[in-house]
Amino acid sequence: MKTAIITGASSGLGREYALQLAENFPEVEEVWLIARRKPLLDELGAKLSVPAVSLPLDLTSDGDLDALARKLREEAPDVTVLVNCAGCGYLANVADTDPQLLSRMTDLNMRAMTLVTRAVLPYMGEGGHIVNVSSIASFCPNARMTVYSSTKAYVSSFSLGLREELRERKISVTAVCSGPMDTEFLDVGGIKGNSKMFKTLPYCDPKKVAAGSYRAAKADRAFHTPRAFFKLYRGLAKVLPSTLVVKLAKT
Ligand SMILES: NC(=O)c1ccc[n+]([C@@H]2O[C@H](COP(=O)([O-])OP(=O)(O)OC[C@H]3O[C@@H](n4cnc5c(N)ncnc54)[C@H](OP(=O)(O)O)[C@@H]3O)[C@@H](O)[C@H]2O)c1
Repeated sequence: MKTAIITGASSGLGREYALQLAENFPEVEEVWLIARRKPLLDELGAKLSVPAVSLPLDLTSDGDLDALARKLREEAPDVTVLVNCAGCGYLANVADTDPQLLSRMTDLNMRAMTLVTRAVLPYMGEGGHIVNVSSIASFCPNARMTVYSSTKAYVSSFSLGLREELRERKISVTAVCSGPMDTEFLDVGGIKGNSKMFKTLPYCDPKKVAAGSYRAAKADRAFHTPRAFFKLYRGLAKVLPSTLVVKLAKT
């Protein structure tokens, strides 16, 4: 069965990916929605025109990652779209952050994204698409979000390397580098009201980010960076010394 898998589907950008799936990939016959909050996944699934399966999994748990691998083995789906969107970011200096929150960021943003991709790859064929949600934070470290920005640098780097590995299998890999979006991410991470940078930057609309990501995936583009402002930032971060950009990019 032609299947799409979306992590972080219960809210924000991941929910938008689910809502826009059918119009972008009409061949998909079933979608697996992954996040921890089952009621939100069920509610979303009921809205979709594609049959949806709620998979309430905590992707920082080895047991839940194993459960996903088991389901893949049992169902052997033909995965045509994988969207790795689950992620979190906490605002504070490293020295002031609860170590559990630091590992939640590295476990979810890097480890889970890597292991979910590894688990799904045997079930992806020619013409498949992988969308990995990175961030503008991947362009240069952001002080006060040092761990978050480092995890997103990993996401972008992983995506680019994987893209080369999968070229012969004709599977596209796209890293999405959005600017701030007004989602639960800001409350969960203690960012709302506590960061001058987040107050000043232009915001991205999750609807447009999801639509742009799918367009970029279908066009086999390595990166999707919404808004001219962030494209310019990406260019500057490439050419200016990182020791200078890091001072300007403090959250
Ligand atoms: N918002 C921004 O400013 C911004 C900017 C650039 C990039 N991003 C990236 O965009 C992605 C989506 O974030 P968002 O803005 O849409 O925020 P969000 O609304 O908080 O979405 C995060 C999603 O991840 C899921 N999640 C969190 N912990 C999980 C876990 N342990 N296991 C499984 N799922 C988990 C959440 O669902 P449950 O709570 O139900 O598990 C939720 O569905 C993230 O990768 C984020 O880094 C966000």
